[in-house]
Amino acid sequence: MPKARLSDLPDATYRGATALVRLDLNVPLEAGRVEDATRIRAALPTLSYLVDRGARVVVTSHLGRPDGVEPALSLAPVAERLGDLLGRDVRFVGRTVGPEVDAALAELGDGDIILLENTRFSAEETANDPDFARKLAGDADLFVQDAFGTVHRAHASTEGAARVLRERGKPVVAGLLLERELRWLSGLTHDPAPPFVAILGGAKISGKIDVIKALLPRVDRLLVCGAMANTFWLAKGLPVGRSLVEPDRVDMARAVMEAAGDRVILPVDARVATALDGTADVRVTRPEGIREDEAVGDVGPETEALFAHIAGSARTILWNGPAGVFEQRSLAEGTRALARTVVDAAERGAVTVVGGGDSARALAEAGLSDRVGHVSTGGGASLEFLAGRALPGVVVLSEVEEVAGGEGPEDRDRKGTGDAS
Ligand code: 3PG
Repeated sequence: MPKARLSDLPDATYRGATALVRLDLNVPLEAGRVEDATRIRAALPTLSYLVDRGARVVVTSHLGRPDGVEPALSLAPVAERLGDLLGRDVRFVGRTVGPEVDAALAELGDGDIILLENTRFSAEETANDPDFARKLAGDADLFVQDAFGTVHRAHASTEGAARVLRERGKPVVAGLLLERELRWLSGLTHDPAPPFVAILGGAKISGKIDVIKALLPRVDRLLVCGAMANTFWLAKGLPVGRSLVEPDRVDMARAVMEAAGDRVILPVDARVATALDGTADVRVTRPEGIREDEAVGDVGPETEALFAHIAGSARTILWNGPAGVFEQRSLAEGTRALARTVVDAAERGAVTVVGGGDSARALAEAGLSDRVGHVSTGGGASLEFLAGRALPGVVVLSEVEEVAGGEGPEDRDRKGTGDAS
């Protein structure tokens, strides 16, 4: 059944209404300043939508994984950056619940925005404590879920408070970012245009095995790279030297190759070095030539060409995870080549989705973020979606029939949000 979105509520609903908005403002900070504002920028359309319609906006988010109150993980610098990007004042409230929050709420005017302190400063957040969820929900008139990166967590601010409000008959709707994320990701899980090529990199098979299993029946080719590929090489009996491997996942890698046959494509060469921290010389070799004191740090040029050739005919591409240790300049070429391959595919009209923090960062560093179809703001969330898991922060959304007015689902393509739960 389709889930409700912002546009399912009549515009008049918003004026003077208190909207509790869960965003994912979990951004990297460096010396107390926001280092990468991608997630803040991604939240702006929903905030503008609400402010333009006169809502009183109360934003919540987590930041990092604090153990109790950790001043270094305060959302204060995020409020400042959010205000700058939005071009309006965003008042920061140094508490998540309690009298200070109540006082700020009492002063909120139509179109005002406040950002509450890091929800994870309270242990009740991750425990999805019902009492904390009720306090967060307060007397809000509606809940807007736009924290795509965190919808796979059943926490008080992502699920509990939303459920409290929904049980009170208040609308719980998807924000514009969540809607967009689900539409793009659903395009990969429902009838992707063939050939569908998935490029999966990163360190571990264990973190991606569910996605691999879910994708295998749908993909025409699965290109494996990153340190994950070392475990596949090991499963084929190839030497991997001192490379990062998961010996306990060798059977898993073998099972994937047996199930998928020639649809799984492994790297054919690698960039290797005796240390992967940028201090050692890097050389290119086929796996058979890897010495015992060497480790794989990136795919090699033949692999780059092979992957580009296969992706060259794809009409749908998913890329998740870097090809190597791209933080080191000498080991970044494979990941950069992948980024160019995905951009080339996008430019000839393929559906292209990039997920996962590292691939998104690699794309951003290459200045290519706006040249692919969609860059997901969620790492774990996009993997869980692609693995077919229910996302608690989406399941909790109102059904469109529950919310009054709006244009009605028949006017639009509801596939994205509707299929998400
Ligand atoms: C993320 O960065 O992936 C999200 O903000 C979720 O963070 P978490 O893994 O700490 O829940």
